[in-house]
Amino acid sequence: MSLDTQANYIRTIFDRIAPVYDSLNDWLSLGQHRIWKHMAVKWSDAKPGDTCLDLCCGSGDLAQILARRVGLSGQVKGVDFSPAQLANASTRVASCYPPLPIDWVEADALNLPFPDNYFDAATMGYGLRNVTDIPRALQELHRVLKPNAKAAILDFHRPNNSTLRSFQQWYLDNLVVPAAQQFGLTEEYAYISPSLDKFPTGSEQLQLARLAGFAAATHYPIAGGMMGVLVITK
Ligand SMILES: C[S@@+](CC[C@H](N)C(=O)[O-])C[C@H]1O[C@@H](n2cnc3c(N)ncnc32)[C@H](O)[C@@H]1O
Repeated sequence: MSLDTQANYIRTIFDRIAPVYDSLNDWLSLGQHRIWKHMAVKWSDAKPGDTCLDLCCGSGDLAQILARRVGLSGQVKGVDFSPAQLANASTRVASCYPPLPIDWVEADALNLPFPDNYFDAATMGYGLRNVTDIPRALQELHRVLKPNAKAAILDFHRPNNSTLRSFQQWYLDNLVVPAAQQFGLTEEYAYISPSLDKFPTGSEQLQLARLAGFAAATHYPIAGGMMGVLVITK
C-alpha cells in the first residue's frame, strides 16, 4: 500500500469512528484518558497567553485543555486531516462560555500550514502511531515550535513487563474490539493492535526525536507502561 493510500485509509477510519469516538474512549479507558491528557498538557509547559498546537486533535480533548490553560490572551490550533473529527470538535466547543480560543484546521501533520518557530507548546494524543511517516511528523513539529518550546506526545505503548503485555493484548482483543463491534466498527478498532506492534518503543522514540533535531527528549511510561508520553524540547 502506498503512503498516500495508507493515509486515505486512516482518514476514512477516523471519519467513520467520529460519531462514537468520545464515548468509546471514555468507556474503554474507564475515563482515565482524561487524566493522561491533563498530564500531557502539563508536560507541554503551555502557559497563559501562549500560542499552542494540538496535532491530530480528533474531537479536540487536548485542544480544549490547552485552551483553558492559555486563556483568552492565548491561541490554540487544533489540527486534524479528518473533516468528521473536526466537525465533532467544533460542535463540542460551540456552547462553551467563555468561548475557547481554538481554531480548527484541516491539515496533514506531515505538511503543516504554519511558519517556522510559531508555537510555544504542542500536544499530540494518539496521533503519532497513526501518521504514515513518524520521522517526518517529528521534523514538522520541530520546525513549527519555537526554540526551547516543548511538545508532549501521548500514545499507547507496549509494556516491557510480560504480564502487563499479555494483559494489554487480552484487553485489546476481548474488550476494545468487541466494544467497537457493538457500533459496527470492528475493523476500525482491530487495527490498534497491529499499529502498536509497528510503533517505536519509548527508547526508539527518543532516538527518532533526536534525529528530528530535538535538543532533549524523555519518555514517561504511564499506566504500567501500557501508555507513554514522549516529552521533547526544541
Ligand atoms: C486516535 S485519534 C486521536 C484524537 C485525539 N487527539 C485524542 O487524543 O483523542 C488520531 C487522530 O489522528 C488523525 N490523523 C492521523 N494521521 C494524520 C495526519 N497525517 N494528519 C492529520 N491528522 C491525522 C486522525 O484523523 C485522528 O483524528
